[in-house]
This record gives sequence, structure tokens and C-alpha cells, in this order.
Amino acid sequence: MCGIFAVSLPGNEAGNLVLEGLKKLEYRGYDSWGVAIRQDSGEIILRKDVGKIKDVQIQFEMSGEAIGHTRWATHGGVTMANAHPHQVGKVTLVHNGIFENYLDVKSKYQDEGMGFRSDTDTEVIACMVNDFLEKGMSVAGAIRHSAEVIQGRFSLLVIAEGFPGIYAARRGSPLIIGRGETGTFIASDIPALLEHTNVVNYLDDDEMVHIEGNKAEFSSLISGDVIEKREVAVSWKAEQASKGDYQHFMIKEIFDQKKTLRDAIDHDDEKLHEAVELLQKSNGAYFVACGTAHKAAMCAEYYFAEISGRKINVVPASEMPSFERFINDKTAIIAVSQSGETADVLEILERGKKAGAKILALTNVESSSMARLADVHIPINAGPEKAVASTKATTAQMAILFLLAYADAGKLNLGREILSGTASAINDLINPRYENYVKDVAGKILNQKSLFIIGRGSLFPMALESAIKIQEVSYIHAQGFPAGELKHGPIALIEEGVPCLVLGDDQDTLSNAMEIKSRGAHIIGIAPKRAEVFDDWLKVPDCGQAQSIATIVPVQLLAYYLATFKGLDPDMPRNLAKSVTVK
Ligand code: F6R
Repeated sequence: MCGIFAVSLPGNEAGNLVLEGLKKLEYRGYDSWGVAIRQDSGEIILRKDVGKIKDVQIQFEMSGEAIGHTRWATHGGVTMANAHPHQVGKVTLVHNGIFENYLDVKSKYQDEGMGFRSDTDTEVIACMVNDFLEKGMSVAGAIRHSAEVIQGRFSLLVIAEGFPGIYAARRGSPLIIGRGETGTFIASDIPALLEHTNVVNYLDDDEMVHIEGNKAEFSSLISGDVIEKREVAVSWKAEQASKGDYQHFMIKEIFDQKKTLRDAIDHDDEKLHEAVELLQKSNGAYFVACGTAHKAAMCAEYYFAEISGRKINVVPASEMPSFERFINDKTAIIAVSQSGETADVLEILERGKKAGAKILALTNVESSSMARLADVHIPINAGPEKAVASTKATTAQMAILFLLAYADAGKLNLGREILSGTASAINDLINPRYENYVKDVAGKILNQKSLFIIGRGSLFPMALESAIKIQEVSYIHAQGFPAGELKHGPIALIEEGVPCLVLGDDQDTLSNAMEIKSRGAHIIGIAPKRAEVFDDWLKVPDCGQAQSIATIVPVQLLAYYLATFKGLDPDMPRNLAKSVTVK
């Protein structure tokens, strides 16, 4: 949520490199963008605009230092004035996160006669840092002093007139320092760095860094003491984070599932047993996740119940505060997250840890905040996921959770066997011929205002996930239900021609399909066998207990084609951003 990027290196390309870096981070926010460069004269100049950065083609003035930002609006509408960077006096700054008490600080400055150009919380931070600088502090001191005032999560980049180098600080929102041979880069996510280097330092909470050329000096944001940081080699490759020959990241990532499922289950037994031991030693376990990851966790609730007979509670992270009284040193919290940075989840983990709970985290971004906070971390190995709509990370999460349920039952090998069969079946399923069947169905329902999805057992969470996928990229109103629940109310919405996706072909679900077909619904079956009640049918392989993993793949394709047939950009749906680092 909001992408930030900085460069300090000899030569004159910093502005252009920041622009390119921001283009790679656009999935984190695409309301507006901005870049600040330090000119040879020492003056810091700004270029910013509303709208997406991907089509911006400008050559920046010569500069060795630049910072930039691509915004997902929180405080203040999508306007030029609210676009970052924000400049006050000598200080130019970009920010990811939320300064929760900014209004108090703003009104104090307003009382002193200070005028503000924007409605953002960020401009207030720039004002504070500049104020402390004018009062004689160093830039680092002014940032530290401001951090004492700020309540909330943030990552900041600061460039100040008359003070060489770039400063960055972190409390709760990610920042990664890329170490090149001659220069240094800072980004809020790894894919933007891969073209320059795969050697990084991860900035931790309450740490800051000053970079100049290839030098990086780390210090505590609290005490100012110098800190030694470890350099880490990142395993992701630049090609993995690019679209290649595909038109969109979403379709590339759907096709990546030919391989990612196998990579997901490629963990040694020891790691999986360590995770399961954490569960087995607990007296009460909670899955905590948001959005699609929450639906993967809901599926896992079924896996554990059916495979190892373990009851695990599933709560959307934002609802967890009502249940926190049950968290103690005997509880296991299982965080499921692609980014590993989702603020609602992180907050629960931080509080859970304080209460003594043990944390198991499944994340795709290996050195994410959640991964570093967890007692046991299992990387889901899906490779960079850049489309806002999660696809390959979802199936990878589900596969690992499925495997953990089998490990919990003491039958890990059987679990691997089933998933290996599922991976092969998905590999065979996704091909251009199959895409044509999906396109045909997409063409039939393209102009519908509303559609419903039903499923039973672990296909019920997939009905909810199907709704998210279709809503977020095609903007068609879609709603998922347990198959047996439709007749308890929602059936009133069924009228002639309303499409209904029916996940599965078990007898009870087919009876529910019949109930709505007889009221006019257009039934699209997504199941291994064709049933008479289906008006259209998308065949999926029979994967037994792992059926939920196979079933979501055609829905991902359907969502993609609904979006593209409507002329929408599935990679950057309106109002959304990948990695939601604000509450
Ligand atoms: C939808 C989607 C979101 C995320 C949610 C949690 O396709 O991707 O619903 O699942 O924002 O994000 P992570 O998994 O990064 O915690």
C-alpha cells in the first residue's frame, strides 16, 4: 500500500531509476505518483501528477539522488496537492502508513501561523522534521524526534536541502535496502530492487538508515546508536517479477500455478513437523488473515477438521479484537498472508506474542514482517505476485495448509501424494483450449449485473473466494453462499437468467442447483462431472480432498476474462492496492 523508492549513486540517472522503480511498485497504489530529485545546484525539485505512473514517459534532470512515491490515498483525496513527495522548507519527504494523531500536531502548527498545502498526514511530518531541523537538530535527530511524536505505522524517505544523502525510517511498514556495487536503493518491496541487486538489508521496526552512494549507515530510531545489519541474498529473480509475453500479471500468475503448487509443497518434513508441533502443543488455535488469504484459511478449517480432526478457529484479522481475551501462552496463532505485511494481521500477531501465544506464519514474501515475527515461518514459494488479485499465492497457501493437516494426522506422505496429483492435474488443465471454454462462458455472462456462487464443505470458502475474484477485477456484483443456505433467504434474488456458479457435483449441491434453476437461474457447473442441471459446464479434474484447490483455478480464469472483455485492467482494479499496510 503506497510504493516508495529511493536511489543514491554516482552519475546522473537517479530520477529516471526512481521512475522505473515506482513503475514496478505500482501494484501497491496507483492514485498518483511523484518524484523528488536533488539537482547539482543542491536544489530539490519535484515532479508529480495524479493517475497511474505506468504510462509516464519523462526524462528527469541529471541527479545522483532521488526519492519517489506511488500513492494509495488514505488522508486526502486524489489530487495533485495530496500527491507525495511533500516539501516543507528544506525537507522533502514521502511516507507510507498512517500518522494517526496528525490532526493534533497540525493544529498546533496552524496556531503558530503555518499554512498547509495538502490534506495529508504526510505534510505534517515534513513540517515537523523541518521545524526540528530549523531548531538546530541534525536530519537524523529531527527524524528521530518526529518519530517520538508519531502514533501509527510508517515508513519514510527524507531528502533535505544542504544535507547530502537520503534518510529512511521504519516503524511497521516495510523498507528494504538494496546494496549495489556503486549505489544504494531503498524500496517498499523486493521486486523493484531485483533489476539492480539481490543483496539487501531488511530495515526492522524503529530503525533508520542514511544512504549515500554505496554507503549505508544504520541506526536506532529510538537512541540514535549505530546498528550493524546483516546482508541477505534474495532468491527471487528479476524475470519472475516481469510479465514476460503475457498481457497482464494476473494471467501470467494464473499460468504460473502449473509450477507453483509443486514449489509450495517442496518443504522438508522437518519444517512441516515443526509447524505442526506448535499446533499440537497448543490448547486452542486461531487462523488470522484477511480477504483471499482468509478464504484460504477457511478452507484449511475444513482440511484440519476432515483430515486430522482438529478444530481451528478462523477469524478475519479485523474482527479478532473481540476474541483476543482467549489468546494466552497456550494459544497458537496461524497467520496466512501473501505479503506478510497486512496491518490488521500484524497487529494481532504483535499483541498475541505479547500475550505469550506462539505464532506460525505462512507468507509469500520471505523476509516480511510476519515472517520475522513468527516462531515458525513457512514460505509458500509462489514467487513474486504482482497482480492485485491473488491467484498463485492462494493455491500455494491452500496446498501448504492441506499438507499441514496431513502432517497433523501423521500421514504427510499421503498428503504429498494427493497434492502431487493435484499439481499434475492443474498443470494439464490450464491450456489454451481450456481458456476458450472459459472465454465462452465469460462472454455469456459479461453483461450481467449480479451473479451467485454456491459450494458445500471446503468448496463453500471457495464460493466466497470466487466472489472476491469476480468482484474485484470485473466489478460485477458477486456473492458466495453455502449451497444449502441459499433457500433460507438469498433465493429471493434469483430471477430469470441470473447466473449462478455451482462448485461441485455432489448430490446435495446439485439439488440446491435445481432449486434455483427452477426459478430461472442460469447454472454454470464447475465440477469433475457434467450434471443435467448445468446449462454450462467447466470441467475440473477430480482431486478428492484437494478439490477446493483445483476448483478455484477456472474461476480465476473466468474473473480474468470477464475483466478483460469489459476493457478493464485486471492488474490494477479501482480503489484497491496490493499489500494493505494500513488498518
Ligand atoms: C484479493 C486479495 C486480498 C488479499 C488481502 C490480504 O485477491 O488479494 O483480499 O488476500 O488483502 O493480503 P495478504 O495476503 O497480503 O495478507
